[in-house]
Amino acid sequence: MQIAMIGERMMGIEEVGSEHLDRGVFFGDGVYEVLRSYNGKIFAIDEHFERFANSLKAIEITGVDIGEIRAKVLKAFEKAEIANAKIYFHITRGSGVRDHLPKADLKPNFFLTISELKDNPKLKNEGVTVSTYPDIRWKRCDIKSLNLLPNVLAKGDADKKGCWEAIFVDDNGMITEGSSSAFFGIVKGKLRTSPLKANILPSVTRKYVELAAKNIGLGIVEKSLTPKEAAVAEELFLGVTTKDIIPVVKFDGKVTGDGKPGKWTKQLIEEFKKFTA
Ligand code: PDD
Repeated sequence: MQIAMIGERMMGIEEVGSEHLDRGVFFGDGVYEVLRSYNGKIFAIDEHFERFANSLKAIEITGVDIGEIRAKVLKAFEKAEIANAKIYFHITRGSGVRDHLPKADLKPNFFLTISELKDNPKLKNEGVTVSTYPDIRWKRCDIKSLNLLPNVLAKGDADKKGCWEAIFVDDNGMITEGSSSAFFGIVKGKLRTSPLKANILPSVTRKYVELAAKNIGLGIVEKSLTPKEAAVAEELFLGVTTKDIIPVVKFDGKVTGDGKPGKWTKQLIEEFKKFTA
């Protein structure tokens, strides 16, 4: 008789609920998105759904009607009535007895949460500290997949060092991005960030940071920084949907600039507000 055990409960495997047999749990076999709203309006919804569709295609999850998912997200967002909301959703390949080879007739599982975004003005006003961590991820970080174990370990390492974010450094000694954020510097008066081909997530915030830079006449150089360059950059900051732009004031223990959010960073934060008003 095939046996399953959940917590203390022993049962026949046929009694196990599909949520315990989700390929997202067994293999991280799924993709996700995180969006936010500003004062009741979801920001950059088209970009997020375009990226989600690309992620699904990249891992060959078929049969998902993107329009239907978008309608479900909008309906839940309306029902939640949260002005500044964090919207998380994922789709996994489906549930079934564990087998690397997915059964042909699997039905994708959809999961969504909408929660209150707690804004912490301190992050923007005072900035955060970051520390580096080896980029031990796979080669397809352009896919927003549920395979986030390296990101979790990196974030835990940063936390142990008293830092807010971990910054990945790849095998060539180049910075790629944060464990859950895009990474930027101001070097010789220009915005520096990794090119999309540098095995990073095509961050939506990154797209709008570059637009804001153009709007304020800040030159852009899409070239990865080394930790050495970042340690002496005039300014550093992070970009992420839930917090848009977060200044960095310490990199691997080295104070950035005068230890306060930089002038370009503050200008970009102001310019970014025009997109979200
Ligand atoms: N993370 N890089 C990584 C590895 C990320 O996980 C994220 C976002 C970003 C920023 O992408 P965007 O600007 O589209 O939010 C960059 C989400 C918020 C998360 O995993 O919670």
